[in-house]
Amino acid sequence: MQGLDIELVDVSMRFGDFTVVQPTNLKIGAGEFFSILGPSGCGKTTILRMISGFLEPTSGDIKIGGKSMKGVGPHKRPTALIFQNLALFPLMTVWENVAFGLEMRGWSKHERRKKSQELLDLVALGDESHKMPNELSGGQRQRVAVARALAVEPAVLLLDEPLSALDLKLRQHMRSELRQIQRKTGVTFVYVTHDQGEALTMSDRIAVMKAGAIEQVATTDAVYNAPATAFAATFVGANNIFKGTIIEAAQSTAVIETKCGVLRGDNPQRLAVGTEATLFVRPEKMQILSEDNGLDNEIDVEFQRRDLEGPFVNLFFRRNEQIFSVHLTNVDRTAQDPGQQCVIGFAAQDAMILPAGDMADE
Ligand SMILES: Nc1ncnc2c1ncn2[C@@H]1O[C@H](COP(=O)(O)OP(=O)(O)OP(=O)(O)O)[C@@H](O)[C@H]1O
Ligand SMILES: [Mg+2]
Repeated sequence: MQGLDIELVDVSMRFGDFTVVQPTNLKIGAGEFFSILGPSGCGKTTILRMISGFLEPTSGDIKIGGKSMKGVGPHKRPTALIFQNLALFPLMTVWENVAFGLEMRGWSKHERRKKSQELLDLVALGDESHKMPNELSGGQRQRVAVARALAVEPAVLLLDEPLSALDLKLRQHMRSELRQIQRKTGVTFVYVTHDQGEALTMSDRIAVMKAGAIEQVATTDAVYNAPATAFAATFVGANNIFKGTIIEAAQSTAVIETKCGVLRGDNPQRLAVGTEATLFVRPEKMQILSEDNGLDNEIDVEFQRRDLEGPFVNLFFRRNEQIFSVHLTNVDRTAQDPGQQCVIGFAAQDAMILPAGDMADE
């Protein structure tokens, strides 16, 4: 199996008067694990269905391996799709489920048996081939679905929230399984999810989507460490938020006036003085300060509560009506009392100032 690249050229989708995918340009590399991440209803499934050929775009062109897919039906494309609510055939054994698409393609029983065994070995289910689907765990069933999709040797595997029905432990386990299967096969994976943890742990790159438009396409590190928009900053991971106006801008840093005072941070987009902007700081970049740490940014707050996560603790502080969080490893034994006055702060280089915009939690 060999992955192919995918290119969306001005692809849009409209249902009646409602544009669910704005004109979109996107390149996905051959053999890449690429995720499309966004909230429910933003158009993720619609994009997958257009790539797979089950839905014809209203405008634009989709190329796979450099070839236009205009007029090419779903079964003629080098793609396989694992649906959002998948089901195995309950009355067929595991191996028959995997081999199902091959029978339709005229493979002999012996060939089908051999191919499905190879694929079941690949997804670490080689010993379960004679079981019925209801004798498998949820995660095992999901792996059978992956093997079944790979049986037709697609160059592109499209996965639509394939783990959403599984419990948390299994979901986390399946992340590394899917990543390994993708690496072993070299097939291009396009993975749709609204779960940022899934997207961050598995992908090479992520497209962050909001309301029918892609807001940012970047490596997982860049999406987390250098979000391009207020939405990306708040949808992927947690952030402390300070809204305000830029009052000073010099090269790549800026100063913003907020309700919590004047704060300094990185200004990657070189926003000018007078711009409505928001400063973001990840909770793990915040510190609790004693007397004079001499940090760039310090804020007087009132301690509210502490949530234990095991290896980590989340501390919550309040100022006016706003809550700020500080994420620490569970080695700091300093205790705060509810209502206690504290100072929290952060270095300018750990904060990012972005244009004002819609946030994920609003
Ligand atoms: N056939 C259709 N006719 C009209 N509207 C549709 C159709 N299919 C999808 N939509 C609308 O398009 C929007 C995007 O749907 P889509 O299924 O792509 O979202 P999604 O990002 O996959 O969401 P989820 O995470 O809930 O699966 C939604 O508002 C949906 O109601
Ligand atoms: Mg969907």
